[in-house]
Amino acid sequence: MAYPVTVIDGDGIGREIVPATMRVVDATGVSVEWEEKLAGELAVEQLGEAVPDETVASIRKNKVAIKGPLTNLVARGWASPNVTLRSKLGLFAQVRRARTFEGVPSPYRGVDVVVVREATEDTYAGVEQWVGPDASIAIKFVTRATAENVARFSMNYARKTGRRKITVAHKANILKLTDGLFLQSARNVGKEFPELTVNDHMIDNIAYQLVKNPREYDIILAPNIYGDILADLTAGVVGSLGLGFGGNFGPDIALFEAVHGTAPGRAGKGIANPIAMILSGAMMLTHLGETAAASSIERAIEAVLKEGKVLTSDLGGRATTKEITEAIIAAMR
Ligand code: NAI
Repeated sequence: MAYPVTVIDGDGIGREIVPATMRVVDATGVSVEWEEKLAGELAVEQLGEAVPDETVASIRKNKVAIKGPLTNLVARGWASPNVTLRSKLGLFAQVRRARTFEGVPSPYRGVDVVVVREATEDTYAGVEQWVGPDASIAIKFVTRATAENVARFSMNYARKTGRRKITVAHKANILKLTDGLFLQSARNVGKEFPELTVNDHMIDNIAYQLVKNPREYDIILAPNIYGDILADLTAGVVGSLGLGFGGNFGPDIALFEAVHGTAPGRAGKGIANPIAMILSGAMMLTHLGETAAASSIERAIEAVLKEGKVLTSDLGGRATTKEITEAIIAAMR
């Protein structure tokens, strides 16, 4: 029986890399029934809504979805479509993984780090206000329930994937109440997982250590905004934003996506790197229990990158999205 999956191309390069990902997933032989839905700029143009109800309903029904990046429409008066999707679907945990690949220029080897980011609270609630004409404040919002849920999620994820260490990112020496609550919640939940090492580092120290010694990290558990920044940093450490991949998880829904955005400068030219999106597709297959198919995609990507003949420009090559997609499919055979 085919797995029903909601698929959203999204904006910019999403319209090139999402179809590429569908081709690769289909090429594994796993039967997926793609239910195509809109969100982002195209949804505004065609349906007058950035996150249409029918898109949310489709994801709720199928429980599994994959999406391309969405343009932030806040400047045009819309709420961020990504934040809306996460809050409507209760996707409180975001997994963002970055690993080095042989053949991809990076000063590092053997890095494989996962950032688990709390994805519904913190300053991302976007609650701001003016205090007089020349000052403004933003609310940083942390609840014990969500902090414990995301900590438990990160530790269960470690158990499932054979990882051993969780490092909590925080600035609890300054933000004693908010980051302090996040850290304390993680420490409490850590007692339920005696086989794991749960430690913590200040966010500024993590930024430094990720550049000096990224292999120090296995899973980094972070409040929303730190996690957002660290995910891009880890993608940079392994060589390109075009390699950072992941998913968003709620109690019963998973929505997979790459770390990067719509890359407007590359959109429509057929030159975007589809690998992060394809790896997100592989993560989706793992989530569906199709681990052999997921591994075949990962191995094919490893082979293509190692050979180094068909690389997109962000990786130092000249290949198009279509050429690298076809090379990956060929390497799966
Ligand atoms: P971006 O991630 O789109 O681009 C940053 C840099 O990385 C650019 O130089 C871009 O060309 C390059 N890049 C990104 N993905 C690439 C790929 N697959 N292949 C090759 N090069 C790649 O970040 P930016 O410019 O800050 O954001 C553009 C738009 O995307 C904004 O509207 C932003 O809000 C949105 N965005 C959406 C995300 C999502 O839907 N999950 C995540 C991040 C940004």
